[in-house]
Amino acid sequence: MHQRRAVKELLNAEQPLAGLDVRGWVRTRRDAKDFSFIELNDGSCLKSLQCVVGLDCAGYSELKSATTGAAVRLEGDLVASAGKGQRWELKASRIEIVGVCPEDYPLQKKRHTDEYLRTIAHLRSRTNKFGAMARIRSRLAWRIHDFFQQRGFHYIHTPIITGSDCEGAGDMFRVTTLPLDRVPLRDGEVDFEADFFGKEAHLTVSGQLAVETYCLGLGKVYTFGPTFRAENSNTSRHMAEFWMIEPELAFADLADDMQLAEDMVKSLLDFLLGECRDDLDVFANFVDTTLLERLAAVRHASFARVSYSDAIAILQASGETFEFTPQWGADLQSEHERYLTERHFKGPVFVHDWPRDIKAFYMRQNDDGRTVAAMDLLIPKVGELIGGSQREERLDRLEARIAEMGLDPADYWWYLETRRFGSAPHAGFGLGFERFLMFATGVGNIRDVIPFPRTPRHLEF
Ligand code: 4AD
Ligand code: MG
Repeated sequence: MHQRRAVKELLNAEQPLAGLDVRGWVRTRRDAKDFSFIELNDGSCLKSLQCVVGLDCAGYSELKSATTGAAVRLEGDLVASAGKGQRWELKASRIEIVGVCPEDYPLQKKRHTDEYLRTIAHLRSRTNKFGAMARIRSRLAWRIHDFFQQRGFHYIHTPIITGSDCEGAGDMFRVTTLPLDRVPLRDGEVDFEADFFGKEAHLTVSGQLAVETYCLGLGKVYTFGPTFRAENSNTSRHMAEFWMIEPELAFADLADDMQLAEDMVKSLLDFLLGECRDDLDVFANFVDTTLLERLAAVRHASFARVSYSDAIAILQASGETFEFTPQWGADLQSEHERYLTERHFKGPVFVHDWPRDIKAFYMRQNDDGRTVAAMDLLIPKVGELIGGSQREERLDRLEARIAEMGLDPADYWWYLETRRFGSAPHAGFGLGFERFLMFATGVGNIRDVIPFPRTPRHLEF
């Protein structure tokens, strides 16, 4: 009986091992006269295992089918490698072709453009770069849970289908079972009474409002799930489906919120630099040669904090010619974000206390009557990584704001009740997981940090 082992385990072995069973995909095969080298990758780690298949190996006659991309099973012993570049190799005693891979396999060639690989998203995990990305993504997701769990935060599963529009900004995908070719009408309007939920339903743009209700019962909570936005912006930083991490902290203010965000980002960077090194090096070597430096700099920086008003003043005094003139009351454009974080502060910066008129209804109103306790974290290369705020916990102020913004209080009755019954100051933020991965790897297009990107006019399987 041979022992099934992952390539990762074998490459880290302390001593030679006999009687192994290894399965994976052929990356390359080099033939010599009486034997061949197979580089076998099984996805357990970046590196492949060198396997030596000689004349005495059972199944040797099948070797010609062990082409790049083929799935194979090998039996053999792990022995010290005489060759350069690896400590161990597998001396194969049997080879079995599990799945052949004909010549039209698109990944025969080593280098492909990201654009091309996007068209074969179902195969791109077999390249070094996308394999590394997938492993980093998986490890970081785990680490995010670990970070919060260690600090006593509870993981709350907030709904994907929602009856409320969290950001109050539109741009939502509708969820319906109504037949589009014969929509039921009542008084000339769509009759949502006849729809699945008996009312309008959408995919969530954020788990925040739901997680807030649990925050005011469990104290420290977070949600980490997919979110959906139907904004029709085809940029390198936006997708229609992305993953967001949203912690919510009771008895906390905006300063606590920013501190939590800073701690979290730094903790993730520690983990990335310490535990994902092989995979990270793919990006440091082939995508962005300044990556490690940049990550280390952010890890050790103390994140700057600047009020929105001061940020506008800095932009106005910069002498730069921006496409959009910086103006108090307007949202920051990405050119403004980049200037602040890359040129002025030369590192991460929290912009806090934003004009209330460009922010959501739930943000806590400041005493100046024109700003709210909101913050964005801007980081080099990416711009906005995090958006968050202290929430309006005062019932009267919240009700007034909902009315002022023309929202229907009936839609938020449950949210308002949390302010009637034992309301407490609380704050939270949302970190876009893909934005973090762009920053973490230097990858410039958000479509390349998620397995299956969803963007306007693009939905492959
Ligand atoms: O700033 P946003 O819209 O904040 C919220 O949704 C709050 N409810 C979060 C909270 O306080 N709990 O989004 C948060 C983050 C952004 O900073 C950005 O990183 C990311 O989500 N993001 C997107 N990422 C990819 N594609 C998009 N279309 C994104 N929109 C936002
Ligand atoms: Mg935002």
